Amino acid sequence: MMKTILTGVKSTGVPHLGNYLGAIRPSLKLIKNSQAHNFMFIADYHSLNSIKDPAAMRYATLDVAATYLACGLDPEQVVMYQQSHVPQIMELCWILTCFIPKGDLNRAHAYKAARQQNADFGREDLDHGINGGLFMYPVLMSADILGFDTNFVPVGQDQRQHIEIARSIAQRINQHYKKDLLVEPKEIIEEHQAVVVGLDGRKMSKSYDNSIPMFVPEKKLKKLMNQIKTDSAGPSEPKEWKSAPVFHLYQSFVGAGEVANEFAQELSQGLSWGAAKEKLFQVVNDELKEPREKYTELMSKPKLIDEILAHGAVKARTRAAATLARVKEAMLGVSLL
Ligand code: TRP
Repeated sequence: MMKTILTGVKSTGVPHLGNYLGAIRPSLKLIKNSQAHNFMFIADYHSLNSIKDPAAMRYATLDVAATYLACGLDPEQVVMYQQSHVPQIMELCWILTCFIPKGDLNRAHAYKAARQQNADFGREDLDHGINGGLFMYPVLMSADILGFDTNFVPVGQDQRQHIEIARSIAQRINQHYKKDLLVEPKEIIEEHQAVVVGLDGRKMSKSYDNSIPMFVPEKKLKKLMNQIKTDSAGPSEPKEWKSAPVFHLYQSFVGAGEVANEFAQELSQGLSWGAAKEKLFQVVNDELKEPREKYTELMSKPKLIDEILAHGAVKARTRAAATLARVKEAMLGVSLL
């Protein structure tokens, strides 16, 4: 049987080079080389947990869709849809809720971290400011995955626990009803993926204000590159490339190997930081120039994006409806198919 790969992306703000190198580029590569049914969706109901402004919601959805399309996602090969267009996911979400011990949710990382933050602030109520959506986040994510009979979910390290939760819910349900009602999903995690560093050398992250957005105009990209932190070694002095963010970003782009080694050698032989940044700019710009143009064009045609998402939603609903009917039939003792 053909396997299913499903990727979910939360729509929260402009993607940066860290998102590109850590998630977008590898997942598109995986899809391209796969002989599987591929689903890629925009997790807008997950985003609703933090974004409450409709214009921002709309923009973020278009932005994710345009970014993936611009980077080469082929909607004929991948079913691309918006989570909120598939109501079956919500119905399944409730069903799954009835099969997860509340204690498992208490132990989920994101929820625990939010409570810890309250503790750090010295607050008495550790649930202060935490809404139910954050608490239920892993269940909705499980519904995203289980609703599509997903075999594999490519995710970052930080999502490992969520896939474990999805798997354990599926196992519990299968055991209880004594049949393979739900496919038990596995995560695909790139173990050796290096952290993508930002302008200041720390992990590139929106919250550190050190990120380089994927699709800034060329001039701005150059400007940002020039802001990357370096030491004060003079133009022709040998450079400490090992700890240099310029080197690390370059290596993230070209991969560890000969090209990166050559760059390291040039730096140790006295390539100036200015010239090094120019080289980095060239590599980044060569790869993102075309996607940037496509992205800009797509963002000016939201109707076209809507059509692609609507087309994907029809296929997604069909798939999720089949899973849901199977589950309801088994659980409610009625025939729905
Ligand atoms: N939680 C994921 C993230 O923050 C996004 C996501 C939502 C997801 N539902 C999913 C990823 C289902 C994979 C499968 O990155």
